[in-house]
Amino acid sequence: MRTPYIAGNWKMNLTPSEGARYAGELAEAVRKAGVSCRVMIAPSFVALPAVAEAVKGSGITVAAQNMANHLSGAYTGEVSPEMLKDIGINTVILGHSERRQYYGETDEIINSKVLLALSLKMEVILCVGETLEEREAGNLESVLERQLRVGLKDVLPAEMGAITIAYEPVWAIGTGKTATPDDADAAHAFIRRTVAAMYSEDIANNLIIQYGGSVKPGNVVALMAKENIDGALVGGASLKLDDFLPIITYSK
Ligand code: PGA
Repeated sequence: MRTPYIAGNWKMNLTPSEGARYAGELAEAVRKAGVSCRVMIAPSFVALPAVAEAVKGSGITVAAQNMANHLSGAYTGEVSPEMLKDIGINTVILGHSERRQYYGETDEIINSKVLLALSLKMEVILCVGETLEEREAGNLESVLERQLRVGLKDVLPAEMGAITIAYEPVWAIGTGKTATPDDADAAHAFIRRTVAAMYSEDIANNLIIQYGGSVKPGNVVALMAKENIDGALVGGASLKLDDFLPIITYSK
């Protein structure tokens, strides 16, 4: 049984005070409505303490959107996973397409972050997904396979319980274009088969695979109805209670 897992990636939005206010309202709404899925929100680094405080006791997980691939040292502007752990943050999104695209993160860099996070017993959401060019060239599966094989290199079978995969077709992020539920499900099935080949059927069957890319209140039900879609990584629609609450209570 895979427990649905819905995450909100705030990206570079909401100041610490705006974020804490919104997170407090979200926590209250979750308490009232009751949700059957796991809920996570990922604010900016500087908002993490205030947001974590605002959702305390609500069951909402607070995660970082990125971290350094070193524990400490002369890496100006970077945030170490030890610093995150020190403020109680145990979950991190890694390999988001915006990190790959704008900050030059390669599969190898992402893999080093994955291994470092796991060594500190953190949970990871590893993002994978193809660009429009790659999809149109018929390379969807080879891109996903490379991102998984390199991204998860040297991850032990026993550590796979701490990994969630987010399938985010780059062309669907922030564009209003969503993969159809069937297209997303096919990509998810491919990801599950690849993980089965790399590890085992058991590990693949237990793997949570989120879909990300223009998830909205209006499409979440159809996406979540698919066999291989176990959750969502939501960007734009995670920034407002009126959008995010209907998404996390989609089954009601
Ligand atoms: P979007 O972003 O929901 O705004 O498309 C998704 C993401 O990048 O995680």
